Amino acid sequence: MGKHLIIANWKMNLTIHEGSLLVHKLSELTQNHRTVDVVLAPGFLNLQSLNLQIDHSKFKLCAQNFYWRDAGAFTGEVSANQLRGLVSYALVGHSERRHIFGEAGREIGRKVQAAIRHDIKPVLCVGETAMERGDGETNDVLHDQLVAGLANVTSDDMKHVIIAYEPVWAIGSGNSATPDDVEKASAMIRRQIQHMFGAQVARDVQVLYGGSVSMDNARGYLDTKGVNGLLIGGASLHADQFASIIKTAHQSLSGKK
Ligand code: PGA
Repeated sequence: MGKHLIIANWKMNLTIHEGSLLVHKLSELTQNHRTVDVVLAPGFLNLQSLNLQIDHSKFKLCAQNFYWRDAGAFTGEVSANQLRGLVSYALVGHSERRHIFGEAGREIGRKVQAAIRHDIKPVLCVGETAMERGDGETNDVLHDQLVAGLANVTSDDMKHVIIAYEPVWAIGSGNSATPDDVEKASAMIRRQIQHMFGAQVARDVQVLYGGSVSMDNARGYLDTKGVNGLLIGGASLHADQFASIIKTAHQSLSGKK
């Protein structure tokens, strides 16, 4: 039986103290489920203290971003080399990085490779804007983002790569995609991965959904064919809501309503 992967993306929220408090509450509210991997992506400043605070059998850590070079004169940047051993995962190409900070294809591909080089699992985020969707370009956008993001990645490397389908129009908008939309996008993503890496990799790759996931709609995605977990922004900032989603993920795999 597969596992669900549930990632909390705190974005640029919470002070060090608030983050620690949230994790403390979350630990109290959650049980250790063998069926669910729970991953926290706090801001950089929280990573070290949370690494000491968390029960590592319950939570893993994820970076929200990093620079692809290993070291050098890159003021203000943090490398995958520096994150090695501290985080198990890193988001790559989140739509806020693409749209606010201008990250594009080639750079995103280099980040995926840097993460793999340093034993960090990249969570490559892909998704179309509202306008692209309106123009019927969703599949083309997913194709282009996967081709650029996974350039120079081998089939063997793909064991460590996770794909998150995050339609830009659904992120932080309260306007989530339907499970049907997500099933189609996941199928398209797997078709493209099959084309690039073969059928086995396409079957095995974990595909997550993200975009206005809440306690109320989480189950719908978790029960959707081809979906292996969730990337959660807003709802992950509330211990009770995030704990409820973790429980839902467990129930979804154990077949309970
Ligand atoms: P949201 O964010 O859940 O607040 O929509 C998701 C994300 O950006 O990863």
